[in-house]
Amino acid sequence: MPKIVLQPQNLVLEAPKRCNLLAFLQSQGIAVGSACGGKGLCASCKVSVLNGEKNLSRPNDREIELNSRNNLQLKERIACQCKVLGDIEITTSYW
Ligand code: FES
Repeated sequence: MPKIVLQPQNLVLEAPKRCNLLAFLQSQGIAVGSACGGKGLCASCKVSVLNGEKNLSRPNDREIELNSRNNLQLKERIACQCKVLGDIEITTSYW
């Protein structure tokens, strides 16, 4: 099972492979912004990937559109649009 490391708390979670990143974090009681309820409209669920960016699914069309509209940085991902494929380390500005 892929490991998700949350920083700065250094919390390690084991996630089912191919799970939705936002849904999994919420199921574990982790606070993640989600104004649109995971529909890929608000970008409030963005996370910064510190390590393992290749272990997330490639950005889909909705995420690519959100990225350009919200001027997201290279290692920022929209959690509700990502599937976890392997180990990752992530953070947000509010953890
Ligand atoms: S929860 Fe709104 S874009 Fe992910």
